[in-house]
Amino acid sequence: MLRSKIAGIGYYVPERVVTNNELTKIMDTTDEWIQERTGIQERRYCQKHEETTTSMGVAATRIACERAGIAPEDIDFIIFATLSPDYYFPGCGVLLQRELGITHREVGALDIRNQCSGFVYALSIADQFVRTGTYKNVLVVGSEMHSMGLDFSTRGRNVSVIFGDGAGAAIVQPTEDPGRGILSTKLHADGTYAEKLALINPGTHGGFHSRKLGEDIDFGYPPADSYGEIFFTPKMLADGMYYPNMEGQFVFKMAVQKFPEVIREALHEAGLQTTDIDMLIPHQANLRISQFVQRQLGLRDDQVWNNIQRYGNTTAASVPIALSEAWEAGKIKEGDLVCLAAFGSGFTWASALIRW
Ligand SMILES: CC(C)(COP(=O)(O)OP(=O)(O)OC[C@H]1O[C@@H](n2cnc3c(N)ncnc32)[C@H](O)[C@@H]1OP(=O)(O)O)[C@@H](O)C(=O)NCCC(=O)NCCS
Repeated sequence: MLRSKIAGIGYYVPERVVTNNELTKIMDTTDEWIQERTGIQERRYCQKHEETTTSMGVAATRIACERAGIAPEDIDFIIFATLSPDYYFPGCGVLLQRELGITHREVGALDIRNQCSGFVYALSIADQFVRTGTYKNVLVVGSEMHSMGLDFSTRGRNVSVIFGDGAGAAIVQPTEDPGRGILSTKLHADGTYAEKLALINPGTHGGFHSRKLGEDIDFGYPPADSYGEIFFTPKMLADGMYYPNMEGQFVFKMAVQKFPEVIREALHEAGLQTTDIDMLIPHQANLRISQFVQRQLGLRDDQVWNNIQRYGNTTAASVPIALSEAWEAGKIKEGDLVCLAAFGSGFTWASALIRW
């Protein structure tokens, strides 16, 4: 039976380090508050006008290709996960294809909008294509440039201190080794609380959504029967309605419930137990969330990879960056059982079990 394996993994983070103390100069926050609530000490921000979500994805892809022993020309399908694309449309998949210089191959490019669980969703799609024999080298990318779209005033501090920029990429290939590869993937979503963690403007909703679920705010829209409505009104700009908003405590409570649930589900399907896990790579949402999940599953510190302290939450990029780092550090060896798990906006959550 054909299975898929991660043949190469790589990551890229911008050079510019932004410490908590740097943020205290532009908003009312403290290093203590950020570290105590989130575990974050610093994050990376892109060089404005020089780096993009796509360019970071390209940098990570080149490393993943090299480690998989392939050239970018060998990629036969692209899956790109991000919530911070270069353009509203088209997505980053085709831009990455162009920057890699492989447009002549005309391979398909798919864009994934599943926020923090984007990479695990994308990996699951790659797995299906590879196991059915459709493609041999599927590129899966998670990349985010949050620093261009956050509210760096005190108004946005609950969100802006958390997020950072970066990218990770993986090459997914077939393997006939029965002892190796992706054993199971589990994908879930519940749109009931879509606005609890969301960037709702610009959008086509016409003003029926707002910062708080169920609360109808007057966005100052033109009359409903007019044509060519603009996406932004002066009121929306003044109120900063183009920034992401989040009900942090609500998200936290859902995350600590769904992470262990979806991990156990993947284990159950593969006929394995929590004691079989060698390395858990949780999406880096909050160090407290990862620590809670670790306790729930009874894992030791050396069985969970955390790097939120250095990069913050990089959304779709966080799982591949952490996986790549753990691998580079020699913490993932052939035969190890690696578990990827993510939860985020949507809400969407997902897991993947890989025999490395
Ligand atoms: C965002 C999060 C760190 C906030 O921590 P919290 O303990 O829930 O804090 P609250 O939002 O209840 O706010 C507590 C106080 O801190 C303040 N605060 C918020 N952000 C702050 C900041 N950056 N610096 C200082 N104070 C801040 C709030 O204004 C509030 O003040 P008040 O009590 O005077 O009203 C936490 O809820 C969290 O991590 N949630 C999950 C988020 C997440 O994982 N998102 C990504 C999902 S993939």
